[in-house]
Amino acid sequence: MPQKRNVTIVPEIDVPGHSMAAIAAYPELSCTKDPKTKVNPGSKFAEWYGNGKFKMLTDNTLNPSDEKVYEFLDKVFTEVAALFPNPYIHVGGDECYKGFWEADANCQALMQKENMKHVEELQGYFMKRVEKILKTKGKKLLGWDEILEGGIAPEATVMSWRGIEGGIEAAKLGHNVVMTPSPYVYIDFMQSDRTLEPPIYATLRLKKCYDFEPIPEGVDGKFILGGQANLWTEGIPTLAYAEYMTYPRCWALSEVYWSPKEKKNWEKFVTKMENHFDRADLAGINYARSAYDAAIKPSMKDGKLVVELEAEIPNLTIHYSIDDTVPSKFSPVYKDPIQIPEGPITLRVNTYRNGKPIGRMITLSREELVKRSK
Ligand code: ACM
Repeated sequence: MPQKRNVTIVPEIDVPGHSMAAIAAYPELSCTKDPKTKVNPGSKFAEWYGNGKFKMLTDNTLNPSDEKVYEFLDKVFTEVAALFPNPYIHVGGDECYKGFWEADANCQALMQKENMKHVEELQGYFMKRVEKILKTKGKKLLGWDEILEGGIAPEATVMSWRGIEGGIEAAKLGHNVVMTPSPYVYIDFMQSDRTLEPPIYATLRLKKCYDFEPIPEGVDGKFILGGQANLWTEGIPTLAYAEYMTYPRCWALSEVYWSPKEKKNWEKFVTKMENHFDRADLAGINYARSAYDAAIKPSMKDGKLVVELEAEIPNLTIHYSIDDTVPSKFSPVYKDPIQIPEGPITLRVNTYRNGKPIGRMITLSREELVKRSK
């Protein structure tokens, strides 16, 4: 049956990491088998060290050495395969912490038996077993770029989320790829200055979404199936807030993914976006106007604090103050990088269109600017 709206819905069952819910229900499927495992323990369950490195304090990984795990997954994937008519099931594969496997005698025995030198290879073994299960259901495997690390089957499709590098590597190996790199398409990130948006660990402004190019140089475009935006919802309590995070960034990404590259034009997109704002107002859909806020870029030059201001929406004027007044259209217009004098200075910035404020005022102390310049 043709799809009414040309949308393919792909379910994701994330294994072998990110499996806290399964393990809370069936602790015996993990290496540690802790019967007190909870989905939301209310306590710190991981430590993050930057560069994607982390340690799980609670075991959220399925045990790759236990046949019961594969029986369980066969049941789960049988049910999921029957629910979704599309050819793919996403099996995750991301952020799988291997520390509990390393410490487990049965995992060590499996590694010896299979002649594996490194614990990473256990994930490759696990993924190959999962792919076999999917094949028996007539489904193809889709997984995050970590699945490349343990070796994958030729038919596997890769979602590149830790940047575009995994997608490039996968395409060069002849795999199909869905591009979804966090720096360009993670719409759970903040959209404007961190003093104006609820805090998340990273920022993704509208223009950066629009600038994304899903087919990297040197990659045969036939392997890039398309792209995706990711809205992880642990910080999204309501549908209206999901809309705020989604629009207009997904309008930008729709154009990136569905229009020819040659047709991209930021100024024209902004006009279309503003028409969409009117439609959204009529339809009762929430959206963010964060793209109108200035971007603040402090740096230290020859021991002096210098701030560059940027408005990504065309034809805005930026007014600012460093004299403890609320900026208005009578305040200095930003033209060149501002040198911030020593002392208890506060920078206040806002954007204007036709003499009327259009962005939100951003207020930053010198101390904060110095901190951000590092
Ligand atoms: C992911 O964001 N862990 C795929």
